[in-house]
Order: sequence, then structure tokens, then C-alpha cells
Amino acid sequence: MINYERRVQNLMGEACRAAKVILEHIEEGNCISVFSHIDADGISAAGIMGVTLSRIEARFRIRIERWFDEKMASEIAAEKDSLPILTDMGSGYIDILNEALKGRDLVILDHHQPSGKHEETFVHVNPEIFGISGARDISGAGVTYLVSKEISEKNRDLAYLAVIGALGDMQDKNEGRSLGGVNEIIVKDAVESGYLKVETDLLFFGRETRPIHKALAYTTTPFIPGLSGEEDKCLTFLTELGIKIKENDRWRALRDLSQEEKRKIFSGISDHLASYGYKLNIAKKLIGAVYVLVNEERWTPLRDAREFALLLNATGRMEKPGLGVAICMGDRGRCLKEADGTLEEYRKTMIEKLRWLDEHRDRLEEMRGIYVLHGGQTINEKMISAISTILSTSMPNMEKPIIAYSIVQEEKLMKVSARATDSLTRKGINLGEIMHISAERFSGKGGGHDVAAGAQIPINKKEHFLRFVDDLVVRKLKGNEDGG
Ligand code: C5P
Ligand code: C5P
Ligand code: ZN
Repeated sequence: MINYERRVQNLMGEACRAAKVILEHIEEGNCISVFSHIDADGISAAGIMGVTLSRIEARFRIRIERWFDEKMASEIAAEKDSLPILTDMGSGYIDILNEALKGRDLVILDHHQPSGKHEETFVHVNPEIFGISGARDISGAGVTYLVSKEISEKNRDLAYLAVIGALGDMQDKNEGRSLGGVNEIIVKDAVESGYLKVETDLLFFGRETRPIHKALAYTTTPFIPGLSGEEDKCLTFLTELGIKIKENDRWRALRDLSQEEKRKIFSGISDHLASYGYKLNIAKKLIGAVYVLVNEERWTPLRDAREFALLLNATGRMEKPGLGVAICMGDRGRCLKEADGTLEEYRKTMIEKLRWLDEHRDRLEEMRGIYVLHGGQTINEKMISAISTILSTSMPNMEKPIIAYSIVQEEKLMKVSARATDSLTRKGINLGEIMHISAERFSGKGGGHDVAAGAQIPINKKEHFLRFVDDLVVRKLKGNEDGG
């Protein structure tokens, strides 16, 4: 195994090739068609590419997509006189791309587990190809940033967008909720270009922007039962701990609190979580690295990079991804204002869904190897991803992967969002692989990362699909036990 530094160099080498191909096409006067994924990482990736291309006065357009399928492949193929660039998607569907774009130029900037060998005319930049984790070490926006930096050193100032992408994809899995691997290099670029400051604190949502009880209520990673989503209960909880909520009629934010007060809150939450059967390591996820975007206005959701990511997710999930891309490209006027409203709407929907979940516990079924959340049509295909993520952080000591799904009646398919824990992946569970194999088996599409993956399956194959996945997981875990 070659050392990490060498692997990073190889990845950069491929990024350099991608940059050359893009510049060649621009010189020939071709248009660039960027296709990106609908979540925070995909939107930041699109923003990085958008700024990069506009700085060199290239002609380009950006499209944001829910998921990759044959229909999308044929739309890409239909764009004859342009160079298609896929960001944060594509790697898992190489066979489809090979067929649709045979012999044509294509640039893929992604971090999903790759499937198969690509056409020679494609440039495929993906950390997994070089032995670097696409789930933890670099995101789709990160890969896009590496290419952008190869196009021009000036684009170093876009590193902060790649930090947002990585946080959106929950890559903050290192000691103290920090980013590691290639992400660490990107964080350094963002700090050096004067956009980012990294501090350690309680990880409440909106530590500079919101009254403490609201900040606590808005915190959902980890999910705190009885407090997440419940402003009134948070107010009571903090008051009972003896925390002063207001100072001279003004709400206090987390940054106004003393170390002593913060310690009190942390130990209060630890006790609270323990009473629900959670281990201390869950509470510890509430302390760690805060990524502050120092050039953003205080009191806005853009100041904290995790909150920025949530805002981008909200624009994507509420069908306004164009707002997210515009904000990444620098809009701080009309689009930001509109996105603020979208974020509120998204939060409300989310809290509604979580309440529904709480009242319909029977929708969560425990099978031999997996938990299945039958989201049906109540949780639509745009929300199922976030609900699945929150659910996975809300189950104490989860020992089985979560397979959540939603029904998309018009398209006669089920959209699956699968989540595992790191301890499950260490036991050999790779959800990307499991979703890929199971989806293929039942005429669907699936893939992703080891900890988080997804699929679309024809509705009439639902039962078979779930049983098949359950079986695969049981066999994997059993095989592992037998093998030691
Ligand atoms: O398509 P992409 O790679 O950008 O998306 C990864 C998805 O997986 C995100 O929605 C992210 O929130 C989710 N995820 C998760 N838990 C992890 C890692 C990723 O829910 N541990
Ligand atoms: O949609 P969701 O957030 O659950 O997806 C989890 C991960 O799986 C994301 O990284 C997403 O891009 C990926 N995925 C995929 N193929 C699918 C569905 C999701 O690669 N058909
Ligand atoms: Zn991603």
C-alpha cells in the first residue's frame, strides 16, 4: 500500500488532467454543461464550478438533479456541442455512461464508490480509485475544488465551499467532529485564504445567531429526544439548569455564555441522554470543531459552515436548488433572503415528519439484519434522506443498518435511503455495495458510500428487495463472526 501523501498526489494528478480537458474545450469555444447532485455537497460543487467557469469567461449552464438514471444519461448525451461535467454524481453508474457517451469527452468529479471501467475518453477524478475514502476524506465539492485549483491558483478562495460540501455530507468523523484526510488540506486552504476559522465549542446550531434554547432545539446531530425540534421544552430545560436565557431583555446566544455555563449545559444534556439509554459517546458528539466563515455577516445562517450546508440542503429539498447555487456563487441579496424563508419551511416540514415518526413508531420495523422505516407517501422522496440520517443518529447504540424508503407513486418506484454506523462498517457492512447489488437484482439503481447509500426500485419489487437486503446484511455479519 503506498502512503497517503502519494495517494493524494495521484488524485491531484487526475484533477490536473480534468482541468486540462476543461480548458481545451473552452479554448475551442465549447459550452460546458455541469450536472450536479441536489444535496448540499452537490450544490457547493456546482457553485465552485460555476465561479471557476465564470472567472475564465466560459459559456456554461448548471443543472441540479435528484439522482442519476438512464433518462439523465440520455439528456447528457443530447448536449452535442458541449463538454459535460458531472459533479458529486456519476461514478456509480459508469456502465450507463459508457453506453450513452461512447467515444465522447466527459469529466466526472465524484466521490461515490465507482462501478467498472470507464471509456478512455472520460476523465474520472474520484478518491476511491486512489485508495482514499470518498465517505470520510473528501466530498464531491472537494474533488471539484481540486480541479478548480488546477484551473487557476486564484480559485483557492473557493476552498470554503468545499468545506461546506464535506460537512453537508457528514464527513466530520474524526476526533472532535473534525474533518480529516484530504479535507484537512482543503480546510488549511480555506483558513489561509482568510475565509475560515476553526474553533472548539458546543456544536449547537446557530451558536452566534440564535437564542440558546432555539439553538439547542435546532440541533439534530446527534438527535436529542425530547429536545431536538422542541423549543419550549429546551427553554424549560435550560432554565431548570439555572442558565440565564436573557440579559437585559436581550436573548443570549451560545457565544455569550461562560465556560462554566457551557459545562453545566453539557453535563445536563449528558444526564438527559443517559436517561434515554444513550452512552456518553453520543453526548460527546456535541462538542467539537466549529467551522466559522469569518467573512459572512454575524446573525446569518451562512456564518457557521454546518448551517450553511443545511441551508443548501433546504434549497435542494424544497425544489429551489438554483437559490443554493446562486448563494454559493456569491449572491447575498435576493436569493439569500428567499433561501432564508425556504430554510424555515424546510425545518417546519422536518419537525412535522419527525413528530409523525414519533407518533407512528409502528412504521419502524425490525427485521433480522436491518431496521426498515416504511415512509410510504407521508415522507416524500426529497425528505427521506434527511429523515433517515436523523433516525440513524437518534437510535442509541444502533446495531443494524436503517433502510428507510418513500413511495413515488407517479414513477411507480420506491426511493431508498440507507444508513449505517461506523461500527457496522468496521464489521464489513458496505451499504453502497449492498444497495448496488440489491438494486440490480430487482431492476433498480443503487449505490453510494459504505455508511450512506441509496436506491430506486420498482414498487412491485418492494417486499423482495427488502428481504434480499436483510438477507445480505445477516449473511455479511454472520460471515464476519464465523471468520473471527
Ligand atoms: O451524494 P452524497 O455523497 O453527496 O451524499 C451523502 C449523503 O449521505 C448525505 O445526505 C449525508 O448527509 C449522508 N450521510 C449520512 N451519514 C453519514 C455520512 C453521510 O447520513 N455518516
Ligand atoms: O439519497 P440519499 O441521501 O439517501 O443517498 C445516500 C448516498 O447514496 C448519496 O451519496 C447518494 O448520492 C447516493 N446514491 C446513489 N445512487 C442512488 C441513490 C443514492 O449513489 N440510486
Ligand atoms: Zn457528496
